[in-house]
Amino acid sequence: MSETTAAGWGEGLGAAWAALRCPVCHGVMRAAGPADGSGDEAQGLLCGVGHRFDRARQGYVTLRSGHKNSQNADTAPMVMARERLLAGGWYEPIATALAQAVKAHARPEGVLVDLAGGTGYYGAAVLDALPGWEGICLDISTPALKRAARAHGRLVAVGGDALGRLPLGDGTADAVVSVFGPRVPEEIARVLAPGGVLAVVTPMPGHLAEVQQAVDGVAIHPGKPERLAQQFASLTRVASEEVVKGVTFSAQAARDVVLMGPTGHHHAEADIDAATLPTATTIAVRIDVWKA
Ligand SMILES: C[S@@+](CC[C@H](N)C(=O)[O-])C[C@H]1O[C@@H](n2cnc3c(N)ncnc32)[C@H](O)[C@@H]1O
Ligand SMILES: [Zn+2]
Repeated sequence: MSETTAAGWGEGLGAAWAALRCPVCHGVMRAAGPADGSGDEAQGLLCGVGHRFDRARQGYVTLRSGHKNSQNADTAPMVMARERLLAGGWYEPIATALAQAVKAHARPEGVLVDLAGGTGYYGAAVLDALPGWEGICLDISTPALKRAARAHGRLVAVGGDALGRLPLGDGTADAVVSVFGPRVPEEIARVLAPGGVLAVVTPMPGHLAEVQQAVDGVAIHPGKPERLAQQFASLTRVASEEVVKGVTFSAQAARDVVLMGPTGHHHAEADIDAATLPTATTIAVRIDVWKA
């Protein structure tokens, strides 16, 4: 990824920041200086009513009103495994296809939301393909947000619940990408701007099948194309493609792909080390694209 500084703070709020809303009252947010009134560098976000959300030292801001749905947040070992696997380039074909799919339908400028974006890997790849855009990586996992805050110079990291009301204004997102993460279709439709693009990446049957079979048969549940089509019936589907590729993982990558997935929530790292993992497997995902 080409740009690696933490985005936005200190330079005033750009288009991505302007899309954010207060998670308590849904009001517009503005940059807030230090709580003690010293200096004017943005230290957080403040809504009109006075709800204040401070920026974490690592650069992300958490916009949540409660503590719901955190049980599925990726843990630090899962995030480290995901970061290593993605840095190894094993999923680059998915990132490249996703970036091109969004670019094909996107305006010259806009705001991208990487929903349940984890470390911001896919958000950064899409922003690389869209030079006039800014992005928001929304996730509920603190270790993931720390990385997302550094993923791309135009990507801001926001702690938030993808299964609740999104901390985003109506029609503020010109593109939403949802890669292997939780989502609420009605909320995506609400935040998408007219003409905005939605790209959803889901695993197909057979995705990493050999590796998954070796770990207690814990399967990645494939996305159901009919179900997706139903969920986004208010949008117009403009493209659908499959990325299918045989890969031979390194031993480390085979372990990481298990650790970073659903299995990572249920198994200790040591259990996964002990398993004999096959390295030859298949990446098989679908990318569906809709327009609002
Ligand atoms: C399978 S990972 C995908 C991450 C990223 N899209 C990627 O593919 O690299 C699922 C992500 O969803 C996040 N997550 C789980 N529940 C969430 C929720 N309720 N709201 C926001 N993020 C959530 C996890 O922390 C994790 O980063
Ligand atoms: Zn508020």
